Amino acid sequence: MKLIVTHSYEESAALSAQMISQVFLEKPEAVMGLATGTTPVSVYKYMVKAQKEGKADFSRAQSINLDEYIGLDPENVNSYMYFMREHLFNHIGILPENIYIPNGIMNPDTEIVRMNRFLDENSLDVQLLSVGTNGHIGFNEPGEVFYDKYHVVELTEETRRSNSRLFSSLDEVPREAITMGAGGIMRAQKIVFLATGSEKLYAMKAILEEGNVTPQIPGTILKFHRDCTIIIDEMLARQITPASGVEVVHC
Ligand code: GLP
Repeated sequence: MKLIVTHSYEESAALSAQMISQVFLEKPEAVMGLATGTTPVSVYKYMVKAQKEGKADFSRAQSINLDEYIGLDPENVNSYMYFMREHLFNHIGILPENIYIPNGIMNPDTEIVRMNRFLDENSLDVQLLSVGTNGHIGFNEPGEVFYDKYHVVELTEETRRSNSRLFSSLDEVPREAITMGAGGIMRAQKIVFLATGSEKLYAMKAILEEGNVTPQIPGTILKFHRDCTIIIDEMLARQITPASGVEVVHC
């Protein structure tokens, strides 16, 4: 595991975008695994900027998203499909048939089969990742096992509360989601993991500091990944003592 400490969130986001762009410079038809939430917003801003300036080309990419809320129409402003279109897809010339996101209003079982088929047939060249306050990755909530494939998950109250800031009320936050399993995430060849803000300290300490891997804090499984780069700003890094095996680079 490699840890890059930057001066600011914007610097972290720019660096993440650069790492993803590099994958596409080497392989224009690469498959990228994408994430939602507030954290990746500036990563997508810099990817769009690189595309517009001709410094990167994502138009031949295939993309697969980690998750989607069950019950939200792709046109709903809080759906992850809407988020991805607004922040990235509408600006990079990616073909609609190369975009894989579970559809929140289709039969979940059918969507799970569709998403798992894509993962079985394609290898993710790079996965962009962030983390929830409770250590969830995608929507893999703390639990007893690490799920392998896409599955339906019941969201914890902590996640619903934390994500309610983007909805008009807590009641509107869906109770279930479809998410890629930890197995799918771990099979990505490269992981670019971005985090910022003191509310992520609990999760980031568990991931970066000495300690065991546990499904109670799903992000800890990244300790086992062979090519995972974690990018955080110094505000957050200051409060973390990385484990001895973590290679630390300061920007
Ligand atoms: C959601 C997503 C996660 C994301 C998390 C953190 O729960 N399913 O993939 O990592 O939000 O979001 P934020 O970046 O807004 O803190």
